[in-house]
Amino acid sequence: MKRYRLSVCKGSSCKAGGADAVYAEARDSLSGQGLVPRCELYRGGCYGFCHMGPNVVVREDTGRKRDPLSPEDYQLMGWDGEVYYSEMTPEKMRRVVSEHIAKDAPVKELFGQPDSDCGED
Ligand code: FES
Repeated sequence: MKRYRLSVCKGSSCKAGGADAVYAEARDSLSGQGLVPRCELYRGGCYGFCHMGPNVVVREDTGRKRDPLSPEDYQLMGWDGEVYYSEMTPEKMRRVVSEHIAKDAPVKELFGQPDSDCGED
């Protein structure tokens, strides 16, 4: 059985966009579906994609120790199983928990595109 670490960005832009409600939904969905043992929930960020927020990063928990100084809380690492979700809402968060965390099925249509911001806006 896979285990996960799910981080909701705690940076100010993501917070202004509703990241706290996204975090609350993640916490409630995980406990409501009995998934707390499968998924560690925490706040990372800022990830540097502020205009895409609220941002959420899900990684497979491979037993790797979490270094408090690790850049994993501030950037995408490109690790296997790492998924970045952008423009999150509580409704989208519920879906990520029900599909990605509960069924090991990442929600591809909600994937963020961290490289696509050049030339936008
Ligand atoms: S505030 Fe969330 S990515 Fe910058």
